[in-house]
Amino acid sequence: MTKEDRYIALLPQVKALCEGEVDMIAKMANACALLHSEFGFWWTGFYRVMNYELGVMRSAAATGNSELPTPNSELVLGPFQGPLACMHIGYGRGVCGTAWKERRTVVVPDVEQFPGHIACSSESRSEIVVPVFEGDEVVAVLDIDSRELATFDDTDRQYLERLVAML
Ligand code: SME
Repeated sequence: MTKEDRYIALLPQVKALCEGEVDMIAKMANACALLHSEFGFWWTGFYRVMNYELGVMRSAAATGNSELPTPNSELVLGPFQGPLACMHIGYGRGVCGTAWKERRTVVVPDVEQFPGHIACSSESRSEIVVPVFEGDEVVAVLDIDSRELATFDDTDRQYLERLVAML
């Protein structure tokens, strides 16, 4: 089975899981469980854009603030599968913060070659980060790490972008 075959089989499962479900965290949790078990990645998970206002942490999606990111917003660890990970990532920081800032998928064939890569685990060798949009706004990123070099390519990008659009 090719990588593409696996994604083609996986997408309808994600779609079925998400149908009728409004809770984003529940959908993210099952989506990363499916991806992680199907592909055996090292780490698969989401970081959500959170906005701190008046001491209350609310998701970017909930605030409806079209001027995000504000100095008070950052990525916060969400549902994931795999080893422990860092919990807060700033705008433009690491691969995740870069995907958020540049509003595009970032594929990193060798994490040691990515300036500012945040090493949550020394085992991680390559990585892909896909922004999750709600309307025009990035509300989260999907981050996947591999213990092999150059695991991710344009096939992963295309299918993962379709996957996050279903959430
Ligand atoms: N490597 C990421 C940090 C998150 S962990 O990989 C789970 C980054 O550089 O943003």
